[in-house]
Amino acid sequence: EKGGYDYFMLKEIAEQPKAVADTLLGRIDAAGSLTLDEVRISASELREVDKVVIIACGTAFHAGLIAKYAIEHWTRIPCEVELASEFRYRDPILDQQTLVIAISQSGETMDTLMALRHAREQGARVLAICNTNGSTIPRESDAVLYTHAGPEVAVASTKAFLTQLVACYLVALYLGQVRGTKWGDEIGAVIRDLSRISNEVERVLETMEPVRELARSLAGKNTVLFLGRHVGYPVALEGALKLKELAYMHAEGFAAGELKHGPIALIEDDLPVVVVVPSPRGRSVLHDKIVSNMQEIRARGARTIVIAEEGDEAVVPYADHLIRIPATPTLLQPMVATVPLQVFACELATARGNEVDQPRNLAKSVTVE
Ligand code: M6R
Repeated sequence: EKGGYDYFMLKEIAEQPKAVADTLLGRIDAAGSLTLDEVRISASELREVDKVVIIACGTAFHAGLIAKYAIEHWTRIPCEVELASEFRYRDPILDQQTLVIAISQSGETMDTLMALRHAREQGARVLAICNTNGSTIPRESDAVLYTHAGPEVAVASTKAFLTQLVACYLVALYLGQVRGTKWGDEIGAVIRDLSRISNEVERVLETMEPVRELARSLAGKNTVLFLGRHVGYPVALEGALKLKELAYMHAEGFAAGELKHGPIALIEDDLPVVVVVPSPRGRSVLHDKIVSNMQEIRARGARTIVIAEEGDEAVVPYADHLIRIPATPTLLQPMVATVPLQVFACELATARGNEVDQPRNLAKSVTVE
């Protein structure tokens, strides 16, 4: 049932283009507009929403962090993202105009379930983004948008994450569409880019051999740091989480702008630092800033592993290892930038002799608080 792969995780990484395409299927009409009628919250109710709050745990939380950039940009509705385990303990401010989005692969995560119950008690509407039909979280929500990743068996989430991102983009774009924001033209263009994104994920998967080789060469290291900015920051957090749970290595993700506020003190000779580089197009200020961060850490001996768009030549002088990803609109970049980090963590786990599909101390679904 592993379809010829040694591990479920490898199979699930390879299934990502299909999982992404399946999650888009039937949700974009011939005219290039979104049809999310299955989300049984009426357009007029969605126009009333004045705040979005996303609750999730682990990898699903990282999808939520990325969703915030998309929701705020395309809809201009303020969006908060909170760890489900923290949410209800701080007496959050919620009412009928708050749209709470609960993201969960399994639909059974107790922290997320308790958070959504709390949100509903306060009168908020809850939309679940979930991969498991009929599980508890969608059953207890007002509405659900299913991801169509198929069953995810490996404890480390991969294809569910990419499809959670797709679902988040769909919700953000749909909210933008029903509310008619000033980004109308951009929304149309992004829907077109999104419908092509599974091909880009496929292209990334075809070029992963050097990433595996690099991972094997780092099997003896104790620490790997990850840096990113904007949507690349949650990607860095996700890369670090994958490495912790699979390789049992000390891995930390930072917002690159925070380096000089502390973490740069960690840089020492030959320390591997993965840098997720924003597109040089669009938000080029951030691109230039991260290039100077690379310069700074390299001057202090870091070994940079750089994930950058094809054609971005400015990074070449500062990259000890360069991993190329296809050019995408900024907000969609996590769809392609995350894939090499999944492959990297999986290969490092194997090289260290760890159990890839069933890491120590972890369960696939966490049904206790
Ligand atoms: O089933 P859920 O999406 O609610 O699970 C949330 C987290 O437990 C999960 O994403 C966890 O962090 C993964 N093992 C990460 O790979």
